[in-house]
Amino acid sequence: MQISRRALLGKAAVGAAGVLFLPPALRSVFAGDCSPTPRQDLGPFHPTRRMGPGLDGMVHGIPGRDMRRLLHEDNDNVLTEVRGRAGSADLGRVGYVLYVFGSVTDEDCDPIAGAEVEIWQACVTGRYNHQQQVSRDRFDPDFQYTGRAVTNAQGAFLFKTVQPGAYRNDPSWVRPPHIHAIIGAPGYHDLTTQLYLSGTDLQFGERLYGPEAFDILNGRDNVIRNWLRTSDDRRRATSAVTALADEPNLPADVRFEDGARQARYDIVLRRNPLEPLPPPPEPAPEPVVEGADEAPDAGAPGDDEPRDDRGITDALEDRRGD
Ligand SMILES: [Fe+2]
Repeated sequence: MQISRRALLGKAAVGAAGVLFLPPALRSVFAGDCSPTPRQDLGPFHPTRRMGPGLDGMVHGIPGRDMRRLLHEDNDNVLTEVRGRAGSADLGRVGYVLYVFGSVTDEDCDPIAGAEVEIWQACVTGRYNHQQQVSRDRFDPDFQYTGRAVTNAQGAFLFKTVQPGAYRNDPSWVRPPHIHAIIGAPGYHDLTTQLYLSGTDLQFGERLYGPEAFDILNGRDNVIRNWLRTSDDRRRATSAVTALADEPNLPADVRFEDGARQARYDIVLRRNPLEPLPPPPEPAPEPVVEGADEAPDAGAPGDDEPRDDRGITDALEDRRGD
């Protein structure tokens, strides 16, 4: 069953047909500490290399290309469906649709509009779409494995994905579920990082574990140990997964599935003094009104209304609603 949040919240956020936008502001996102998000290892499974035959040709990266640019037929911000396929991503026995959202700001807590957020992750079984991974876990052809979003004027981004699976890195090391990300914006240093989860049941192989599994795996993970040295670093890279219905920041028109959940990550980029910041956006031209010969009335209705500047491609395409 799918429920429209509009019905629950009475709030429309629809732009073009079938496209959903973030609300004008993320609540309380700019409060608090805006020290830079700690960087982490890129990892071996960044999707830049072509997969072998028989895997739907989902990855079309070119070796040697700029790794910030993921070349895919489908790399939008809806990872639960693959363009041209009828199915939806597998959720396993205790997995869930996960809305990942948050903000990108600078160290003054000011939002960065137009930042690129690229993510890649394993499907619910722990399998990546990458030929370097040695894995017998099921490949999910209905999962998009990687996606891209661009922050809106308020610095907000949004993805619809699934809970990533844990996977075995070597006989003694199971990586906790995580989402890889590269975030970049003109005038700022690129950030490569990984985002962790906590708070839900977890399937690993055929076995089910309680929420403590996340904490155990996160606590033992060598990437976390090596790159996130302080408890504050670990806290900022980890999101407690909560019920989507409790989250007021998502678009009112997100259609959420039973059991869908949300995780929030607020990213802070470091200024790169060698790169100029882009110029501020041009103010919108004054509308030309037929027959309006007189001087414009400064008190005309609508003058005080905020301009709708949501036209940045942070849209979440609700293909199922079409
Ligand atoms: Fe990974």
